[in-house]
Amino acid sequence: MIPFTKPTLDEATISAVGDVLRSGWITSGPKVLELENELSKMFGNRPVKCFANGTATMEIGLRIAGVGPGDEVITTPISWVSTSNVILAVGAKPVFVDIDPVTHNIDLNLVEKAITPQTKAIMPVYLAGLPVNLDELYSLAKKFNLRVVEDAAQAMGSRWKNELIGSSFGHRSDLVSFSFQANKNMTSIEGGCLVMNTPEEATLAQKLRIQGVTRSGLDGMEVDVLGGKHNLTDVNAVIGIHQLKQLAEFQIKRIALAHEYFSQLRNTRLIEWGLELPPHNFSDTNWHMFQVVLPLASLKITRSNIMQDLKDLGIGTGVHYPIISDFKLYRDLGYQSDETPIAQRIGKSILTLPLFPTLTFNEVSLIVKSLESSFKKYL
Ligand SMILES: Cc1ncc(COP(=O)(O)O)c(C=O)c1O
Repeated sequence: MIPFTKPTLDEATISAVGDVLRSGWITSGPKVLELENELSKMFGNRPVKCFANGTATMEIGLRIAGVGPGDEVITTPISWVSTSNVILAVGAKPVFVDIDPVTHNIDLNLVEKAITPQTKAIMPVYLAGLPVNLDELYSLAKKFNLRVVEDAAQAMGSRWKNELIGSSFGHRSDLVSFSFQANKNMTSIEGGCLVMNTPEEATLAQKLRIQGVTRSGLDGMEVDVLGGKHNLTDVNAVIGIHQLKQLAEFQIKRIALAHEYFSQLRNTRLIEWGLELPPHNFSDTNWHMFQVVLPLASLKITRSNIMQDLKDLGIGTGVHYPIISDFKLYRDLGYQSDETPIAQRIGKSILTLPLFPTLTFNEVSLIVKSLESSFKKYL
């Protein structure tokens, strides 16, 4: 079976985990600090804090941005549901804006119309690792005095104008949230990190991470804000440290495989039959996923027919993502998926094909041929 994704964990990583387990200190400690320092160096010495997962990272990002009850946050309905769940969790209201039909990210041209006096922040998602136009995003934020919490969960290693997402060398950047969940380009099994602007924000992040606690001296402790339990462990952090070292190497493989997908797919009749390919982008995205859009209306098939055919041939696929506003929780809150028609179509027809560093070109060939033979059945 070819899974849609698979982590690459080498023996050095496995043995480093053993070292932490034997060290006598297994929860948050020196390895978390080391990972944070490495990440901070990578992001131009900006403050970085790690958390137990990307969801907690985003939620703390929203709290640091001052988002709370009565506020609105503009976001995309095509994301992992945690993006809008955390907006609800801090007591604010997610406002869904339709997506761009090519990038599948929030359509920045539609954001201005969605801004109200209650709007506090914009939360863009970089689906499959492809960022939005950061110049446009930050000029909107500046014009309307909004905070930005970038859901860069999938965008570790992605770039905008040749600068890493999360760094702010040439463009503006506000709060940037990454996930290290098992499927991501670098993983700590579960985990995440937030890139911030100031030492004050980092101090608040640290407090929100563990029960609002500030320690001083040998026995001093104060609590002045309601925090949670969101710390990353050293066992997870040491995996992250090793993955970070290999991130560039992983990315080279992902890029080569994405090129291979394009050249193989263009040798088939799939595009003629209406298959939509992802943007041919080899400057910005980290190729976290290779996603196609199925021409369901013209082929009169369902996505699950295609997924089942591929599964029968030993090929795993994924759906990232169904439209959030169609989930019962959101319908019950009054959201309607037909308010964002492009997202509605993409949510029903997007399909993630396998892509991970150890996938081979022969497997790409098998996947593409299998997709073509599945389509033929439904023409
Ligand atoms: C776009 C997006 N946002 C948020 C998250 C949440 O990250 P985590 O699963 O680490 O909580 C994920 C990861 O699954 C994601 O893909």
